[in-house]
Amino acid sequence: MSEHSYVPGTAAEKWLDDRLPVARFAKEHLMDFPTPKNLNYWWTFGAILVMCLAVQIVTGIILAMHYTPNVAMAFDSVEHIRRDVNGGRIIQATHAVGASMFFLALYVHIFRNLFFGSYKAPREILYIIGVIIFILTMATAFMGYVLPWGQMSFWGATVITNIFSAIPVVGESVLQLLRGGFAVGNPTLNRFFSLHYLLPFVIAALVALHIWALHVPGNNNPIGVDVKSTRDTVPFHPYYTMKDLFAMVLFMIPFAWFIFFAPDILGHPDNYIQANSQVTPAHIVPEWYLLPFYTILRAIDFNVLFINSQLGGVIAMALSMIALLVVPWLDTAKVRSGLFRPVFKWFYLLFLINFIGLTYLGAQPAEGIYVVLAKVCTAYYFIHFFVVLPVLSRIEKPLPLPTSISENVLGKAHA
Ligand code: HEM
Repeated sequence: MSEHSYVPGTAAEKWLDDRLPVARFAKEHLMDFPTPKNLNYWWTFGAILVMCLAVQIVTGIILAMHYTPNVAMAFDSVEHIRRDVNGGRIIQATHAVGASMFFLALYVHIFRNLFFGSYKAPREILYIIGVIIFILTMATAFMGYVLPWGQMSFWGATVITNIFSAIPVVGESVLQLLRGGFAVGNPTLNRFFSLHYLLPFVIAALVALHIWALHVPGNNNPIGVDVKSTRDTVPFHPYYTMKDLFAMVLFMIPFAWFIFFAPDILGHPDNYIQANSQVTPAHIVPEWYLLPFYTILRAIDFNVLFINSQLGGVIAMALSMIALLVVPWLDTAKVRSGLFRPVFKWFYLLFLINFIGLTYLGAQPAEGIYVVLAKVCTAYYFIHFFVVLPVLSRIEKPLPLPTSISENVLGKAHA
């Protein structure tokens, strides 16, 4: 980086640099940052995620100016935003569709990391911060879904808060603390609104840490071979600023399509009916992006020794997150990238299909064949992490790696 390093051009810049080196920071970390020259489009999703977070925060702040967190008025206040507030229809649709687009990008980003081994040393902390962001984003989305106070908001909140009562000893107290009473009601809506407003800023702070942790070792890359010389990298600007911007524009196309042509298609019809504690919907289903974990929660419908089925489900769901957190220590293979792991590749594909299966099953009623399949897919989720990855790390013979990134990009003769 030395030949690009920041040199203050004027006396004013030098004055600022001696006191608060923001310009130096921007030049070294946003512009000149040496970035592997072989990054493909899967690497644009980090930037897309930053954009999604910004969109949610900006639209959310505007929505909060017109929304009323009170059980008697919340549903109507959302209707008021959609019908009466200037631009309200678009702002509300962008926020609601934006949640789905955010999760789409999150899942692509996570599965990219799982395939290219980006969680391996020295990027474990970076990855773990990512998983924490993911868990907080799920909590934020869940609480946001309660705010319009439709039927699914109310019953989703009831079912999901209820699972905390399964925790031994303190469960009942935790449940009342979460709900602010014995049942889901006005205090629940208020605390969810408060936390739904707060958490995105906590997430934004964690994203700053995430990128800090990224800039210590630098990016991984599709072949997973470390950067060896300056020939392997290009400056972040203009190469990746432009590539990221282009990818963001592409991502905006389906995003805009939903907003303008099918703003409500991703929402459950029952959530357009005001919450009613006397009428239970036929099926209580969370939004699509929570379904895989919902399936795992429901799959444990039997008691094991002193653990009843409800507690078992909570443990399984918690364990599914813990598996994600500890994957850097479960997969100890030396080779990072799945491109050079001939057996891993197939198991990765199976894991992906299984995960899509878990998503599908979460939306099905808990009866007949679906119950069996949910158990099989849940079991395979854990087998992948706790059996397949550790065993493959020991027995798989990887393909020969290119000696450097430039050799991989330019071929042996020019590298
Ligand atoms: C709001 C959510 C998130 C934002 C804004 C975000 C942002 C970013 C950015 C800008 C990058 C660099 C560009 C790229 O590699 O795509 C990155 C890399 C990375 N992120 Fe995230 N991220 C988020 C969530 C996550 C999650 C949920 C995980 C893991 C479960 C994760 C794990 C990683 C890892 C391991 C890298 C390094 C990738 C590499 O160099 O190969 N991130 N992230």
